[in-house]
Amino acid sequence: MPRRVLIAPSILAADFGRLGDEIRAITAAGADYIHVDVMDGHFVPNLTFGPMVIEAVRRHTDLPLDVHLMIANADACIDDYAAAGADLLGVHVEASPHLHRTVQRIRELGKKACVVLNPATPVDHVVHVLDMVSMVLVMSVNPGFGGQKFIPAALPKMTALRDLIAERGLDVDVEVDGGVKVDNVDVVAGAGANVIVSGSGVFQTADYAATIAAMRERATRAAAALSTGRTAP
Ligand code: DX5
Ligand code: ZN
Repeated sequence: MPRRVLIAPSILAADFGRLGDEIRAITAAGADYIHVDVMDGHFVPNLTFGPMVIEAVRRHTDLPLDVHLMIANADACIDDYAAAGADLLGVHVEASPHLHRTVQRIRELGKKACVVLNPATPVDHVVHVLDMVSMVLVMSVNPGFGGQKFIPAALPKMTALRDLIAERGLDVDVEVDGGVKVDNVDVVAGAGANVIVSGSGVFQTADYAATIAAMRERATRAAAALSTGRTAP
């Protein structure tokens, strides 16, 4: 049985001037998670928001908040993001010199841990924490901006992770983030990703519900074909 496909719209592409409305709309449209991109202008060359905005987002939805921390010193702030209402906390391998300890702290805080790989970082870097995390996020763009072009070199990493997780019998999701839209969601799901982040691919469409449904349908079909060894129609 393939893992359930979950759609996680990234609010980076939402209208920040109407953030509450956007959160409610994407919740009503059938999103599974809300993906929240925290950028510090240091680890990545862009700046978004911190715990206060996450607290505000939290008030407009009951969906799990999938908080993607693109920040240099996650250890110093994970307690704040947990308190602000994050359900999943994603830390970059490249920004976490003591990854095992950081993951342990996230779990102590009662949150689900996710480890994130930049396009240039090999899968080997998360093998030692694979049995401690709920999710591994494979970046398919260099983090920092929405609306970038998908990097196909991320695909074999998703497959390698999916195989490793299956071999070890672990309960871990593989998430993909960057450049994913309805027209390539089957490719990422076919490669092994089951949590699909999409920013511009959802928020730049007129009908969020139709887009999310189409993504879920295409990804689920590709994942089913993968598990039976067939090619998706
Ligand atoms: C990029 C962020 C992504 C971004 C994806 O650094 O981590 O979550 O919002 O945006 P799209 O889907 O437009 O590539
Ligand atoms: Zn993200």
